[in-house]
Amino acid sequence: MSLLDEIRGLHERAAAELEAVATGDALEAWRIKYLGMKGAVRAVMDRLKEVPKAEKPAIGKAANAMKMALQAAFDARAGRVARSAGARGQGELVDVTLPGRRPQIGHLHVLAQTINEICDIFGRMGFTIAYGPEVEDERHNFQALNIPIEHPARDELDNFYIDEQTMLRSQTSTVQIRVMEAQQPPVRIIAPGRVYRPDTVDATHSFMFQQVEGLYVDEGVTMADLKSCLDQFCKTYFGPEVATRFRPGFFPFTEPSGEVDMLFHNPDGSTRWIELGGCGMVHPNVLAGVGYDSEKYTGYAFGLGIERMVMRKHGIADIRLLFENDVRFLHQF
Ligand code: FA5
Repeated sequence: MSLLDEIRGLHERAAAELEAVATGDALEAWRIKYLGMKGAVRAVMDRLKEVPKAEKPAIGKAANAMKMALQAAFDARAGRVARSAGARGQGELVDVTLPGRRPQIGHLHVLAQTINEICDIFGRMGFTIAYGPEVEDERHNFQALNIPIEHPARDELDNFYIDEQTMLRSQTSTVQIRVMEAQQPPVRIIAPGRVYRPDTVDATHSFMFQQVEGLYVDEGVTMADLKSCLDQFCKTYFGPEVATRFRPGFFPFTEPSGEVDMLFHNPDGSTRWIELGGCGMVHPNVLAGVGYDSEKYTGYAFGLGIERMVMRKHGIADIRLLFENDVRFLHQF
């Protein structure tokens, strides 16, 4: 084999071995074997002196080209090995002065924050928190709330029925019944939670939303207690400048029934009344239905829409923003 062939063979071998090198140790071993003082490249160079004078320029040129190509391939490989070692944390040089990567820290959804705040405000007014199932039976959603079988509120098109007796609750008033069935007066609870109605979705309506129910039953509870409780709540949650008003309304489970509105001051100085929810004095039929003495006890109840409160307080124009889970929106709260 001529020296020229040997040079080509050595080049190919060395390049192939270098391709397989993945660690710093293997790279150093390769360097010693091929480019070191006693390495294969040097050995070939030493043999140039044996070459006949006429062939020397060509062979010398080929040997130099091989040496330079292997040196360049070695440098490139060394860079790659160092980078991948760095990525694995081996031998990495850490610049401790670089700013760190701030972890993304989440927080409670604005609805969850609001529910906590509502529970806190009513908690300070002496209410405890009660929960009920979202999959409810007809009796708790309607019958026990004095909503007779022929009442339009029971319509299939206005409720999510699972079967004839079971449904997704359409109001948190169900929890009033569950609590009164389980305990004797005095009762003073609020019940926050999701409710479901096949309402057409728009800027102020959702098919799933949250309500907070309130119920206070004891001897001598009056409409004045109801008004002062809701007025106090609105002033604490929205601010002391908020006024409330009560309009007559109708709910089968309260008598008399009302709607509670809040007076809002618009940025332009004008004012308007916004509906917050329904309320009233618990109907004697409801009290009697759970075995309470309706001659001895009276009570008030209310049900407020939580999304509408959040929208008012934070100036959110569309209820759908609360359910779309866009973190750019949710991060604001
Ligand atoms: C009720 O659900 C009664 N259970 C409230 C009640 C409780 C009255 C206790 C008397 C005694 P209403 O259907 O009006 O009432 O709903 C109450 C509030 O829920 C509304 O004022 C509104 O703020 C909110 N709400 C009603 N429908 C929707 C909807 N589709 N999307 C978002 N919020 C709604």
